[in-house]
Amino acid sequence: MDPLDPYDHFPAGFFSRSDESPDPAFYVYDRFVTHIDASAIQAVRALYRELGIDGEGPAKRVLDFMSSWISHFTTPPKELVALGMNQRELAANEQADEFTVHDLNVDPVFPFPDKSFDAATCCVSIDYLVRPIDVLRDAARIVRPGGVVVCTFSNRCFPTKVIRGWLMISEEQRCAVVGQYFEYAGGYHQPLIQLRTPQGAGGDPLYAVWAVVR
Ligand SMILES: C[S@@+](CC[C@H](N)C(=O)[O-])C[C@H]1O[C@@H](n2cnc3c(N)ncnc32)[C@H](O)[C@@H]1O
Repeated sequence: MDPLDPYDHFPAGFFSRSDESPDPAFYVYDRFVTHIDASAIQAVRALYRELGIDGEGPAKRVLDFMSSWISHFTTPPKELVALGMNQRELAANEQADEFTVHDLNVDPVFPFPDKSFDAATCCVSIDYLVRPIDVLRDAARIVRPGGVVVCTFSNRCFPTKVIRGWLMISEEQRCAVVGQYFEYAGGYHQPLIQLRTPQGAGGDPLYAVWAVVR
């Protein structure tokens, strides 16, 4: 174990996946579906509104990473950039002004300059990253100081592409793990962790972990 390597603080195999084939092979197929139910989507929208990162707030340029044909803003930001794996899904994203196809599991560095966004969002996707700490570290580079990086997730996934560790832990532990990702990444104030759907309401739960860039 290398105490300086944050990934070594997780159990062996935590970041492996049952399908280790390159991600483009999986995401070549279009999936024009919603990955969470309407109440969970509404919870994402409400959070973005509350954080001031949709079109009604002060944030102007926002990155939605690990995006698809849908981004979850009630009013889209003035400039929304979507980054994901499937070109046709991203091209169909009506809220996005621009999109980029970029495999964060091959290259966890975003193809954007320093401090070029006011905020970044990642909805129901952090569990597919094999180097999530590197990705969040780089998100703190491309989002300006004072801007927020938000990860939301539920309890559904593509089980073969999700990291094994995610499948082995409870929903509460997943929240703590994503909080640890932010902390190990560095460059952020203390992350906040919340269940954003009512406890025991039925339907898909929506958890959020977010942190402000230092
Ligand atoms: C469950 S979907 C969520 C899509 C969208 N964020 C939403 O809220 O509906 C997972 C998304 O992660 C993206 N993704 C998966 N692996 C990725 C990778 N290695 N690099 C970048 N994006 C990835 C896929 O393109 C896909 O759109």
